[in-house]
Amino acid sequence: MMLQNAEHPITVLLGGDKVKEQMEAIEGIASGVDTILVAGALVAPFAKASGMNVGNSKVCDECVSRAKAILESNKAKICLPVDCYVADKPENDSNIEHTKLNEIPDGRFIMDIGVKTVDIFAEKIEGAKTFVWNGTLGHSEMPHFAYGTYKTALAAARGTVNGLKTMVDGDDTKAAILRYGLEGGMFFLEGDKLVKKAERKVVHTDEAPKDGYTIDKYNFNGKKVLLRVDFNVPLDENFNITDDTRIVCEVPTIKKILKDGGAVIIMSHLGRPKKVDNKFSLKHIVKHVSECLGVPVQFADDCQKAQAQAAALKSGEVLLLENLRFYAEEEGKPRGLADDATDEEKKAAKAAVKESQKEFVKTLASYGDCYVNDAFGTAHRAHASTYYVAKYFPKDKMLGYLVENEVNNINKVLTTGEKPVTAIVGGSKISTKIDIIKSLITKVDNLIVGGGISYTFIKAMGGNIGRSLAEDDCIPIANEILDMAKKLNVNLYLPVDCMIGDKFDNEANIRMADVRNVPDGWEGMDMGVKTIQRYTEVIENSKTILWNGPMGVFEMEHFSNGTMKVALAVCRATELGAFTLVGGGDSIAALNKFNLSEKISYASTAGGALLEYIEGKELPGLKAISSDEI
Ligand code: 3PG
Ligand code: MG
Repeated sequence: MMLQNAEHPITVLLGGDKVKEQMEAIEGIASGVDTILVAGALVAPFAKASGMNVGNSKVCDECVSRAKAILESNKAKICLPVDCYVADKPENDSNIEHTKLNEIPDGRFIMDIGVKTVDIFAEKIEGAKTFVWNGTLGHSEMPHFAYGTYKTALAAARGTVNGLKTMVDGDDTKAAILRYGLEGGMFFLEGDKLVKKAERKVVHTDEAPKDGYTIDKYNFNGKKVLLRVDFNVPLDENFNITDDTRIVCEVPTIKKILKDGGAVIIMSHLGRPKKVDNKFSLKHIVKHVSECLGVPVQFADDCQKAQAQAAALKSGEVLLLENLRFYAEEEGKPRGLADDATDEEKKAAKAAVKESQKEFVKTLASYGDCYVNDAFGTAHRAHASTYYVAKYFPKDKMLGYLVENEVNNINKVLTTGEKPVTAIVGGSKISTKIDIIKSLITKVDNLIVGGGISYTFIKAMGGNIGRSLAEDDCIPIANEILDMAKKLNVNLYLPVDCMIGDKFDNEANIRMADVRNVPDGWEGMDMGVKTIQRYTEVIENSKTILWNGPMGVFEMEHFSNGTMKVALAVCRATELGAFTLVGGGDSIAALNKFNLSEKISYASTAGGALLEYIEGKELPGLKAISSDEI
């Protein structure tokens, strides 16, 4: 019924625990569809019919022969898992192993599909025009075995956003999708009707914050506004913007200026070029900025030679300057010094660039009548455009809406957050996270540590971490932090288990391990299921949450589970009423990757600047506006 007039390719996924019903379904639809993904309790009979060992998993002989018959006539359409999670008993709290489907050890139960299968299924789902899904992929009612179902729901949600027609049947499957909040745009079979669930909506707020030191009070009518933004956005190899959050969040400030009757001269950096370099040209983003603003954007291809364009700019017009960092003067650091330069030569070069920086700043200042700094992501840099230029506008300098919004939201977490307050800190380098951990530990009830940085703690506690990341010189500090947590009565959570790989590669062989007992030659790449469950509970019971840094090598699909589950828990906490703030390029990228960025309270556009702000450091970008002495 569901498949009448359905557009091909059609992918069908059948799982759950009703083996006979699902066998019948396959027999009924096989001829009319393109791909059938086999999951749940169906896996065992199909694996056995293909000559594999299925351990202790239940299979009836009749099902095996039906599976054989299906395989014989539809081999090309049937897609079996290639790997799976198995357990020594069919319970959440069991010993869990990850194995290839054709290498299931004796005495184990198949509990969920494995990480590689998740990929293969996602491709078959997202590559289709029609997707029909009935049945969970593993024992998704047990948190440790919900991975396959969640990842599949996510693939379906991603596909749906991109035009896939997704039709879902089966109470468990629908419940899982609803639990993850991924139903938007899908059709659910309700009775004998297909009912479309709410549209997925992409919300970008256009609303400006109300209080604090704002540009609200300033009338930009007739003014040329020199606006520093942080349009340091990620680009792919074809110069397409892969995450435009920083641009979208800048729209309210620019619109306010234009609405007042002002003109805007936008300055930004992109990346860390050391010379003029097409790869880092802001010309690649002009079109998109213009689309976001709904007005044409002019471009000045040299930020120091824009006098004529700036002078000709009329009220309501926008000019974007080329990357400021094409000039060494922006950062005020000498370039091109020989490796063997003496200290004296270095000093002289530094003095020279500091001197030429003055002219550079003056030229930028000459373009505008007033200065707005709205580059929160770059507020921790004392650069020409974020700091020094402000002195040319002693009475006409201010912070934009984006900065104000950031500061208000971060303060909400740090000072007025409802308890319990939980900070989640991840990432790979502990040396870059020490200050923030030390600062947060005095402010929170729970501190959750994940990602590469956790292994230094585990090592400090005497664990065997194999080849996992660790910074030995930080071990004393890790011990100090462990002590601080005890003294301050803060619950410090560290991983108990992890997914390990035998190389730093998505295609590595994967095993689960106790985090204190990682075999030689293997390294921790993601959190294990027990850790995930523990962290999820703490997060979902928190009222205020700050998250910075991924929980594993999430950019590799097979090691993204921990980060994704934490992202999901943060979203669920938000739904339950918590205030949640996520910051840092990687964490935001992770949220975007999992399609969850609209489900948190506040996504910061900053990485380093956010960390320094939380650490209590004074940010030059803010100081330049608030202080008269710069
Ligand atoms: C960032 O992305 O962190 C900001 O744009 C600042 O860039 P920077 O770290 O190169 O100064
Ligand atoms: Mg940075």
